[in-house]
Amino acid sequence: KKIVLAYSGGLDTSIILKWLKNEYGAEIVAFSADLGQGDELAPVREKALKTGASTVYIDDLREEFVRDFVYPMFRANAIYEGHYLLGTSIARPLIAKRQMEIAKLEGCDAVSHGATGKGNDQVRFELAYYHFDPSISVIAPWREWKLNSRKALIAYAKKNDIPIPITKKRPWSSDRNLLHISFEGGILEDTWAEAPEEMYVLTCKPEKAPNKPQYVEIEFEQGNAVAVDGVRMTPAQLLAHLNTIGGLHGVGRVDLLENRSVGMKSRGVYETPGGTILREAHSAVEQITMDREVMRIRDSLIPEYARQVYAGYWFSPEREMLQTLIDESQKTVNGVARVKLYKGHCRTVGRKSETNSLFNLDFATFEKDKVYNQADAEGFIKINSLRLRIRSLMQGKK
Ligand code: ARG
Ligand code: SIN
Repeated sequence: KKIVLAYSGGLDTSIILKWLKNEYGAEIVAFSADLGQGDELAPVREKALKTGASTVYIDDLREEFVRDFVYPMFRANAIYEGHYLLGTSIARPLIAKRQMEIAKLEGCDAVSHGATGKGNDQVRFELAYYHFDPSISVIAPWREWKLNSRKALIAYAKKNDIPIPITKKRPWSSDRNLLHISFEGGILEDTWAEAPEEMYVLTCKPEKAPNKPQYVEIEFEQGNAVAVDGVRMTPAQLLAHLNTIGGLHGVGRVDLLENRSVGMKSRGVYETPGGTILREAHSAVEQITMDREVMRIRDSLIPEYARQVYAGYWFSPEREMLQTLIDESQKTVNGVARVKLYKGHCRTVGRKSETNSLFNLDFATFEKDKVYNQADAEGFIKINSLRLRIRSLMQGKK
């Protein structure tokens, strides 16, 4: 047996690597996707080999991640349950895609991951695996083994010579990529307790952010951010840049009690500095370039699109259908947004579009104009009120 494992180098996937070898007598290919988790990846190759992997893949997928996953999702203004920008949800399909490519390259007959049987990630990974190979064999150790406490895991690690990270105690679990960091579990399971300041990684404390606001101009082409303050950047560069300036101003912290796909509520705390700026700026450019009815219909689909991404249906006919509709709506979304960052907030203060503006001052102005006859509005209101007037007339009769 030969298995590709989605490996992070953390304690859980290290134990899984060893466990798969022990239980299945399998050869293990360890795979880590570089999605922008910073210095976490540096020790991964050596760790994987030491723990018993025969081959290690560490693939830089940052540009593909932002260009083909984050950007399409941001064209949709996706947001889950009103708050969550889906930073983990959107990463899983790409990890699974590359993992399945490696499975093919290496002639593996199974894939494995470290997501638990209680969460969303297992669903996201596995729906994508089956999309790429309907008959792939999937091994989810968390759903199989008897090591279901922290204590049992540590004991297993000790017995098997798996180094237990001696980093300073972080009593929560986290997941990081270019779009966000998520925090869950541990002390966050007290839904009333505020997350401690030392937990945050990407953002400074809003109260301690600079006293001077920062203005940022973001240019969009067909709904995709292409430049910041006049400097063109690739998608991954642009998001990394916005993370830096957003983080400096404490932008993008969210504390949410959300509904997991499998049914329970769960507390998640997120830092999404660049993504928060990007979504605000994108919708600012839409304000000036997008038709009202197109926007109304598209807005009605945001919760549906977000649910699909959250629940792991990235590679699905329904997500592709909505994406086609959304991308059609983005053809006119060309322009620049000006946002102001200040002590945890990101607000639009200006928007313009040279090619696609629908804002016409002649019509909009409260000053004297020659294009709009105010008397026309009387008929508009009369006709639109017809059914309201009829209802009152008929009810008045009773
Ligand atoms: N609750 C978020 C989501 O479902 C974050 C999940 C974090 N995953 C993790 N393996 N730490 O998308
Ligand atoms: C996990 O359960 O492995 C992480 C949390 C989630 O997937 O929702």
